[in-house]
Amino acid sequence: MEKSELSPLDPSSFSRPELAVVTNIAINLNVNFDKKILAGSVELTVKKVSEGVTEVVLDALKLNIASVYNAETDEKLKYEISDHVPDYGSKFTIQLPETDREIFKIGIQYETRPDATGLQWLSPKATAGKKHPYVFSQFQPTHARSVIPCQDTPGVKTPYTATISAPQEFTVLMSAIRDGTKELHGGKLSHFVQKVPIPSYLIALAVGVLQSRQIGPRSHIWSEKEIIEECAYEFSETERQLKTAEDICGDYVWGIYDLLVLPPSFPYGGMENPCLTFVTPTLLAGDKSLANVVAHEIAHSWTGNLVTNRNFEHFWLNEGFTNFIERKIKGRLESPQCQDFEAYIHVSELEETVNRMGKTNPLTQLVLNLKGVHPDDSFSIIPYEKGQTFLRYLEATVGGPEVFEPFLKTYFDTFKYKSIETSDFKSFFENYFSEKTDISSIDWDTWLYSPGMPPVIPDYDKSLATACDEVAEKFLNWNGEESIPITSKDKENFRTAQLIYLLQVILQAPAQPIVKLQALNDVFSFDGVKNSEIKFRWLRICIKSHWEEKVDTVFSWINIIGRMKFVRPLYRDMFSWEQMRKKTLENFKANRQYMMHVSAFTLAKDLHIED
Ligand code: BES
Ligand code: ZN
Repeated sequence: MEKSELSPLDPSSFSRPELAVVTNIAINLNVNFDKKILAGSVELTVKKVSEGVTEVVLDALKLNIASVYNAETDEKLKYEISDHVPDYGSKFTIQLPETDREIFKIGIQYETRPDATGLQWLSPKATAGKKHPYVFSQFQPTHARSVIPCQDTPGVKTPYTATISAPQEFTVLMSAIRDGTKELHGGKLSHFVQKVPIPSYLIALAVGVLQSRQIGPRSHIWSEKEIIEECAYEFSETERQLKTAEDICGDYVWGIYDLLVLPPSFPYGGMENPCLTFVTPTLLAGDKSLANVVAHEIAHSWTGNLVTNRNFEHFWLNEGFTNFIERKIKGRLESPQCQDFEAYIHVSELEETVNRMGKTNPLTQLVLNLKGVHPDDSFSIIPYEKGQTFLRYLEATVGGPEVFEPFLKTYFDTFKYKSIETSDFKSFFENYFSEKTDISSIDWDTWLYSPGMPPVIPDYDKSLATACDEVAEKFLNWNGEESIPITSKDKENFRTAQLIYLLQVILQAPAQPIVKLQALNDVFSFDGVKNSEIKFRWLRICIKSHWEEKVDTVFSWINIIGRMKFVRPLYRDMFSWEQMRKKTLENFKANRQYMMHVSAFTLAKDLHIED
C-alpha cells in the first residue's frame, strides 16, 4: 500500500475505518496559552472490522506524537507516521496489540503545534476584554486531525468525553454536555460528555474569559462580558426556533442548545457544534434580523449532526437540507412570503457564484468529486442553494409540504446516527414515493451531476421583492442630475431583508456614478450601518464604483472580522480594482498572521499568491 494513499471511502482522509474503526474518544488535554499548544493524551476505543487486521489507520496533521500504548496494559505500541501531505496531513498507522480480541483501547500521548490549522490562538488584543488570551477551534471540514489523532472522516461517528485543564479564570466550553469542573492546584479541570455519536468535525473547544446568560429552558448564551447583554437580546428567539425545528424534524436529541458568540476573527457565520453552536459577532445587528443563522445551525441538529454526509462530496446532504429547513422555520415564524423571499434573494447570489466559478466548473455540481481537491477549496454556496432548490423542486413534484414533511421526518428517523451518501437518499426517496406518486419526471442525473444553475427554479412568491425592484429601477434609471427620485417614504415599510435585496440588485447592475451613491446614502444612511449584511453589500457597491473615500473603511473592517463570506468578496473586489491591487496584497500580507488558517489559505488562493 502507498504510504500516503487516501481512503477509498473518503478522498479527504487517510483513515481506513473499513479495516478497524474508532468507536469512542476520551480526550485529556491541557491548554497552554504561553506555548499556544494543547498537550496531553487521547484514548481511542478501536474495533476490528475485517478479519486478520493488524493495524488501525488514523489521520494526523503535524501532531507531535510522544508515545502510543495499549491503554489497558500500558504496553508500548509500534506506529508509523507517513510523510506530510500539504493540507491533508499524514497517515498515522498503529499496530494493534496481538490478541484475539476485537476491541482495544489505544492511548496516544501528544502535543499540538502552535500553527494547528483547526485552532485559533488569540492574543488579548484580539478579544473584547483585551486582558486575556482566547483559543477556539473550527474542525469542519478536515481540521480535527490537527488537534486530535482520529479517523477524521464524517463516515465515522463516535461519542466522546473530555477533561480539559486550563488556568482558573478561564471558562472551557465544548460541543458536549458540561459535566462539572474541579479546582486543581491553581488551575481548573472541566469535564464534558457527548453521548450521541458524532463525526470528528463536530468536536469543538473554546477557552476564554467568558460569561453566560440563560436565554431559554435549554439554552445559555456565552460570550465575553462586554457583549453578553447584546448577545442575549439578539438571540432571544432561540427557543421558538428550536420548537419550530422540532415540529418539522422530530425530537431534539442533544439535551441542551447553547450558543457561543466568538471574537470577530471567527471565519464562518455559524458552526453547528452539537450542544454549543458557535456564531460570529457579525450577527449582532441590534434588531434580531440576522438570527436566521441560528435557525440554520439549529436545523443542523437533524441535517448534518444526526444524518451526516459520508464524506464532503455529499456536503449538500448537510447544507442543502439545512438551508431548506432553515427557510421552513422562517416560513412558520414569520410568513410564507418571507420564506420565499429568502430563497428568491439567493437565486441571484447563486447566479453570481456560478458565473464567477464558470458554468461548466465541476465544483458547481451538487455532488462533487473531491479527488485531489481539498474540501476547503471546494467550499461555496452551491451545495446550499442548489441543494435547497432541488429539495423545493422535489417537494413540489410529490405534492407539496403536506406530503414532503412527513417524508422528511421518516428520513431523519431512518438515518439518524448514520453517515450516508446521495444514493442512500435517492433510493430512500424512490422507495417512499414510487407507489404513492409519479416521480418519473425527476431528472436526477442533471440535478446531481450537471454543473451550472439548477435545471428548474421554483416559482417563488415575489411579493416582498417587487417593492424593492421598483425602488432599484427608479434609482438605476435616474440620470443623477435632478434630485434623486427616492425618498425615505420608499423605505418606510422595508424589512431589513428587503434593504439587503435592494443593495444586491444595485450591486449586480453596472457600476453607478459616485454622486448617485452619495444621494442614495443621504436617503438610506448606509454609511455607519451596524447590520453586517447591509454594510457588506454597500461597501461592495462603493468599491465597484471606485469610490476611494471608502477604501479605509473596507480595510479596517476586513482587518477585524474574519467571516469569509464577507472578507473574501471584499478582498477579491479590492484586488480587481487595479489601482488598489498593491495595497490589497500588502494589507493581506500584513494581516494574514492574525487570521485563522482557513481564511489565510483561501484568501491567498483568491489573491493568486503562491507560497
Ligand atoms: N457548517 C457550516 C459552516 C462550515 C461549512 C464550516 C463548511 C466549515 C466548512 C455552517 O452551518 C454554515 O453553513 N454557516 C453559514 C450559515 C448560513 C448559511 C446561514 C455561514 O457560516 O455563513
Ligand atoms: Zn450549515
